[in-house]
Amino acid sequence: MISDKIIKAMNDQIRKEFYSSYLYLSMASYLHSKGFDGMGGWMRAQAMEEAIHAMKFFDHLIERGGDVELQPIEQPPAEWKSPLEAFRGALDHERMITGTINDLYKMASDENDYASRTMLQWFIDEQIEEETNAEKNVRMLEIAGESGQALLMIDKDLGVRMMPLVPSVKEV
Ligand code: FEO
Repeated sequence: MISDKIIKAMNDQIRKEFYSSYLYLSMASYLHSKGFDGMGGWMRAQAMEEAIHAMKFFDHLIERGGDVELQPIEQPPAEWKSPLEAFRGALDHERMITGTINDLYKMASDENDYASRTMLQWFIDEQIEEETNAEKNVRMLEIAGESGQALLMIDKDLGVRMMPLVPSVKEV
């Protein structure tokens, strides 16, 4: 049995994950507009991954008999001062999301909801990777500074990221 409190918190998390997807898509659009197609592609892949995260909560609620209630998604910013500022924004956002996942895990623990806790463990592990990748990107861009050559090398490097495979409902 999943509690109303966890159902509500997971519905909020669905909105946050879709907002993440929107935010990264907006960053992708900004980066493409500045000619950084590799970085834009990286953000685009990240946007798809966030939609998959939202769907993991969506499926968990359905499997547990909780009602999914989709909420409006806020408009993300559209402009950043530089690629570095966009990637710093991504890092700040991931740190915020880690906090919301930890809060959810604590809620599931307090309620002895072991099924939610197991599902949330995947997200705790995932957030370590998300933050590590975001920190790495920020660090590379800080080192590159204003060097066009270094920025183009990073752009090429990030452009090799593959789009995530969208799992079917059964595989989630
Ligand atoms: Fe769904 Fe990047 O956290």
